Amino acid sequence: MLNDIQEILYDSDQIQQKVKELGETISQEFEGRNPLVICVLKGAFIFMSDLVKTITIPLEIDFMAVSSYGQSTKTSGVVKIIKDLDTPVQGRDILIVEDIIDSGLTLSYLIDVLERRNAKSVTLVTLFDKPAGRKVELEADYKGFVLPDAFVVGFGLDFAEKYRNLPFIGILKPEVYEK
Ligand code: XMP
Ligand code: MG
Repeated sequence: MLNDIQEILYDSDQIQQKVKELGETISQEFEGRNPLVICVLKGAFIFMSDLVKTITIPLEIDFMAVSSYGQSTKTSGVVKIIKDLDTPVQGRDILIVEDIIDSGLTLSYLIDVLERRNAKSVTLVTLFDKPAGRKVELEADYKGFVLPDAFVVGFGLDFAEKYRNLPFIGILKPEVYEK
């Protein structure tokens, strides 16, 4: 598995330090508001579990799974809800937890869905951001690391469902996905 990695961008310690900083900021921002924290499956599951442990105020969690139609590694922009929330969002302060923003299409769709369900507020935190891939205007309220325009895996992110368990974020060797 490690042989397939071209370069480690951020190791486990660097990521944990950043997650802790994000958690402190979010704790202040949401003081007294009991946010509903939504994990966008599957990629955000590791970030979500590490992040909520660093948040020091009461919160609730829920999960949502979305996918782009089609097989390509590039998103098509058409998003399908695979697993919806169990919790009503009307009147709630929502914190969306995402692994990575690339084109921005998935998140702009999701934010739209939550706003149409009358969420009180929608805040977005992403661990990784690839601004070079943007197809729609979308900025996270809080972000961990800005990444180059390369396909990355680890810390929850996959290629063909593999590599999610790597404790760091790294660039996948192109020959792995060009095979
Ligand atoms: P958009 O383009 O809608 O897509 O912002 C966000 C989703 O696309 C996936 N994605 C990646 N997954 N390595 C991955 O493993 C990457 O470099 C990458 N770039 C985008 C990811 O699922 C994210 O939620
Ligand atoms: Mg994802």
